[in-house]
Amino acid sequence: MKINKVGVMGFGLMGSGIAQVSAESGYETIIKEVDQKFIDKGFKQIDGLLKRAVEKGKITQDRKESILRKISATTQMEKLRDCDLIIEAITEDLQLKKELFKEIDRICKKDCILASNTSSLVITEMAVVTSRPEKFVGLHFFNPVPVMNLVEVVKTILSSAETFSAAYDFIKSLGKVPIVAKDTSGFLVNRLLNPYLLDAIRAVEEGWASVQDIDNAMKLACGYPMGPLTLLDFVGIDTVYRASSVYYEEYKDKKYAPPPLLKKMVLAGYHGRKTGKGFYDYTVDPPRVTDLIF
Ligand code: CAA
Repeated sequence: MKINKVGVMGFGLMGSGIAQVSAESGYETIIKEVDQKFIDKGFKQIDGLLKRAVEKGKITQDRKESILRKISATTQMEKLRDCDLIIEAITEDLQLKKELFKEIDRICKKDCILASNTSSLVITEMAVVTSRPEKFVGLHFFNPVPVMNLVEVVKTILSSAETFSAAYDFIKSLGKVPIVAKDTSGFLVNRLLNPYLLDAIRAVEEGWASVQDIDNAMKLACGYPMGPLTLLDFVGIDTVYRASSVYYEEYKDKKYAPPPLLKKMVLAGYHGRKTGKGFYDYTVDPPRVTDLIF
């Protein structure tokens, strides 16, 4: 199974990162989005990161241009027809993902591998709506994709050994480190990470310490690059809420139960960096702790 052309469905934060690393490794990469405005935004993100890399002297202007030449984008699903691998990175909505996979399954060639970058859903649920569950795997990247080296490669009970090994080798070819993960909601990393993040929210709710001190404590005591509340803002408060709800539903274990403060922040629109406010207020420079009254 030779992978030459990669399709990416969704040009958000994860999709643009996946497209960037795919193009950087020499794959012809095509992105499918629903609207031109998301395409423009995705290209702006990649262009900005590559521009920074040129300014820092990490890559040449020629290399930047050759990476960008490998990437194209479309609003028409048919254009993904000749891809060898298609990675879905749309919003975490099972129904939407199933619809998308049904459609792409009808369009793309018979031996194309399909993959989802879901961080909370079970891969088998999507695989079984296609006519090729044996050619379906999970490829779970981490944010920011160009920096984070791990990718969870998820084998379902239906994935063929050949498909899994092609997907695993593809991740290695990106210069990333693949690990074999089971098809359980949250796979490995998020099942470990999520309870830690939720515990940090509970610590805020229960007043163990200030937001800043909780973050500094975990940064300075454990050597983490970001404290848990900064990381929550970085990943997205709404994303973590949705994922926790899925894990809680799946495992019925209270360590995954979304704390009330998390839900209230979602309702208030405090989704973290992307909306300008979460545990910190990013509309001011430098960001300061948001007043949370609960
Ligand atoms: N995209 C691409 N590159 C980025 C970037 C981004 N969004 N943000 C930072 N970088 C690059 C910078 O360009 C810089 O590169 P060089 O070293 O080559 O110059 C490097 O990363 C370090 O950046 P900074 O010096 O600006 O800042 P930093 O040292 O604080 O690093 C960070 C930023 C890499 C994001 C770091 O803080 C970090 O590792 N944070 C934790 C991230 C994490 O835990 N991610 C997993 C989230 S969970 C998840 O994704 C799972 C899920 O399913 C929800």
